[in-house]
Amino acid sequence: MDFNKDTATRAVQDSFRETPDPRLRELLDALTRHLHAFVGEVRPTIREWEQAIEFLTAVGRACTDTRQEFVLLSDVLGVSMLVETLNESEGGTESTVLGPFHMVESPPRALGDSIDLVGEAQPCLVSGRVLSSDGTPLPDAEVDVWQCDEKGFYDVQQPGVQPSGNGRGLFHTDPEGRFRFRTVVPSHYPIPTDGPVGRFLGATRRHPYRPAHIHFIVRAAGHTPLTTHVFVAGGPYLESDAVFAVKQSLIVDFAESGDEEEAERNGVQAPFRHAEFDLILSREPT
Ligand code: BEZ
Ligand code: FE
Repeated sequence: MDFNKDTATRAVQDSFRETPDPRLRELLDALTRHLHAFVGEVRPTIREWEQAIEFLTAVGRACTDTRQEFVLLSDVLGVSMLVETLNESEGGTESTVLGPFHMVESPPRALGDSIDLVGEAQPCLVSGRVLSSDGTPLPDAEVDVWQCDEKGFYDVQQPGVQPSGNGRGLFHTDPEGRFRFRTVVPSHYPIPTDGPVGRFLGATRRHPYRPAHIHFIVRAAGHTPLTTHVFVAGGPYLESDAVFAVKQSLIVDFAESGDEEEAERNGVQAPFRHAEFDLILSREPT
């Protein structure tokens, strides 16, 4: 068969016909169909196609052991969030992207500990319960937390400035399924812009900011692990997150409190901020 614009898609699909793994065959068949349709629609010039390859090459070259520029590209194109959402389990807290800053083990901490190792900003108490989707509290659930500081930097972005482990903690819920820790209210921040994905955002006049959030991975026996954030209500960029990761159900009030008794009970000074919410896990399918 001659390779021309009418036969191209079928020719490439046919070349994958003997792929033994049926799922891989399905993926390649659809990839060929969509990729060829895209090229047929936009009809790139040879120079434009070279530029596309140069861009993807630059994305690959920017990847290191501690930086994943391809994940960042998938994030800003909304693909990470789409894959996350399509794989979400029903009935629990909504999930959202993992992001690139969970790159180190979170230090184990006791309930009530502070993950703020600097102590320069207004204290914030974060508390709540881990529940199963039928409302049953889940004791000894693992709550892995990481966040940037009040200026918008993760500890790994400022070695030598922030202590390692600042803004991170690995907690286990108490017999009533409760978790509780002290921290600071995180700031909004830009995703890394010093690579090809940053140049891509600049070329498209998109800002690189993420709204303020705290990351969580929650695990409990018999339940599907949950990767999510809580977002600080009222902050900037909730409507235009650079990686499309905001879900309304994840926006939480970080209310100001002047309650001296509660401050003393929790080892903070009033006035402090307080965010209270439950994290709900779906049962693992049987
Ligand atoms: C983050 O929230 O840590 C993040 C997520 C996606 C891209 C960059 C940062
Ligand atoms: Fe983050």
